[in-house]
Amino acid sequence: MDSVNKNRERPVGMFDSGVGGLTVAREVMRNLPNENIVYFGDTARVPYGGKSKETILRYSRQIVRFLQQQDVKAIVVACNTASAFALEEIRHELDIPMIGVVKPGAKTACEATRNGRIGVIGTKGTIASGLYTEFIRKLRPDVQVIGKACPLFVPLAEEGMLKDPVTVEMAGRYLAELKEQDIDTLILGCTHYPLLRSVIREVMGEHVTLVNPAYETACSLRKLLEKTGLQSDANPGLQKGRHRFFVSDAPESFREFANSILPVDIEHTQRINIEEF
Ligand code: DGL
Repeated sequence: MDSVNKNRERPVGMFDSGVGGLTVAREVMRNLPNENIVYFGDTARVPYGGKSKETILRYSRQIVRFLQQQDVKAIVVACNTASAFALEEIRHELDIPMIGVVKPGAKTACEATRNGRIGVIGTKGTIASGLYTEFIRKLRPDVQVIGKACPLFVPLAEEGMLKDPVTVEMAGRYLAELKEQDIDTLILGCTHYPLLRSVIREVMGEHVTLVNPAYETACSLRKLLEKTGLQSDANPGLQKGRHRFFVSDAPESFREFANSILPVDIEHTQRINIEEF
């Protein structure tokens, strides 16, 4: 294999605080089937949502160092909180491209809204950062953005309580405010939230478009790889072990969860000590 091809066959790195980023990995697997993924879930330190910018930056730098050691050709920050707090700073420190999920989500919502009223739900950190509002206003200064932090959604998703009555109750409380605001588009601004999509849909009703930034992120990744000449031409099909999964704790429960939502079964999840990076 010549060096150009070898470069293209390197995997794409992806990370989140836990299982949430799997919703992005799922879209990349579906839409960029030739790409191999190295995924890291920071299961020992989840949740990220209520932590400071400083801490998220430190965690993200450690994970990026680990992913670089895995020889990835690009990195997708499959976490809104890390996209909001760490992406801009870290991308300038790297010699490989890096994208996040916030910009693609903002773009899709701007295209979807008809009445110019967009809701954003996310972690405390993501909502406080105001980054969705910033990106949306750049594209559509006329749009009203209403943000709401829903911190308990992350543990509910991590626990697999995707349709539990407790989740329905919490969704009713969190989303009541947004329902009153007459939004017609709602961004699921945390990569864990698409896992709760059916409950959110039930509470918000059919007339509200739910935006999952994961799909648009996969499209942005495709464009980025094409632009930089890094897209894989190989067709690995269902070759075993082509995607690799790492976590900072509890690999077995992560693997079980991953196998319940990914289009391919993963055989092995490896635990690593991320504090060493
Ligand atoms: N899934 C992440 C996000 O998109 C982080 C959730 C958390 O760890 O609080 O923000």
